[in-house]
Amino acid sequence: MSKAKPHVIVTRKLPDAVETRMRELFRADLNLEDRPLAQAELVEALKTVDVLVPTVTDRIDASMLAQSGPRLKLIANFGNGVDNIDIDAAYERGITVTNTPNVLTEDTADMTMALILAVPRRLTEGAQILASGEHWSGWSPTWMLGHRIWGKRLGIVGMGRIGTAVARRAKAFGLSIHYHNRRPVDPQTEEELEATYWDSLDQMLARMDIISVNCPHTPATFHLLSRRRLKLMRPEAFIVNTARGQVIDETALIECLESEALAGAGLDVFEGEPKINPKLAKLAREGKAVILPHMGSATIEGRVEMGEKVIINIRTWMDGHKPPDRVLPGSV
Ligand code: 8YV
Repeated sequence: MSKAKPHVIVTRKLPDAVETRMRELFRADLNLEDRPLAQAELVEALKTVDVLVPTVTDRIDASMLAQSGPRLKLIANFGNGVDNIDIDAAYERGITVTNTPNVLTEDTADMTMALILAVPRRLTEGAQILASGEHWSGWSPTWMLGHRIWGKRLGIVGMGRIGTAVARRAKAFGLSIHYHNRRPVDPQTEEELEATYWDSLDQMLARMDIISVNCPHTPATFHLLSRRRLKLMRPEAFIVNTARGQVIDETALIECLESEALAGAGLDVFEGEPKINPKLAKLAREGKAVILPHMGSATIEGRVEMGEKVIINIRTWMDGHKPPDRVLPGSV
């Protein structure tokens, strides 16, 4: 490894503290205006850099990687999910891919819990009434009634780090914890959460009051919550997604909400991000959905820690070691 600072291109504006440190350590090309790069600009970057630092908004597929230059050895993703990057194609070209796990777990779980509460308890509907300046005639025993979450059954799809952090919160709110995963979690965690493992996703969906999607988006989880599966859910049930929009068939979900085959949805992620289906926006105005612009990990503390992880991954790679947060093919 030469002593020269590696050329690092960062595709989006990062918190100042992270950018300052990157400038000290690397020959860093930063994106101070935070203008997302066009595909052609990303390809140009791949041709010349040593390290690329992309985010969820940059799609790096096999055809783009095929045009990457010989210097590119590391893609240090600023983010936990890596469905924006073709991992197999990267490794075939000898490019290491890293992500930023752990540091956004608690923040994303907080936002998930916020959505679990927001939809049944009509939080945004109530807030909007006062924010709009509409006249409020005062408290009434039968006005703005939502649904209790205490005592209800929460089904977590994907019991990884974030799913487990959601379960801890939900248990404290009096929900019973159920989950579907590729395999059961360790017995201590299951005992701590008093969680019930469902081998069959179909059977779990049919019995839950609230479903929370917390699995990564992979070819195996694309439209995991398909039209057929959404129809298995009870009409009183709510669904929350802070993972990736692609895990739910969004068109089918909209139809279920419109026809009241489902009671409501809390969504932080969407299939065609950043485009939002106007029907979802309408459902949000009608109080059947709470929709957020991908804010799950949006805390200053979290974003700084994500940046620190990116720096540690690059530094470790520079020193000739395996970066701590490598994402290996087939590991997600
Ligand atoms: C990040 C996320 O902000 O890390 C993830 O997987 O979904 C977000 O919370 C985003 O990915 C940054 O690239």
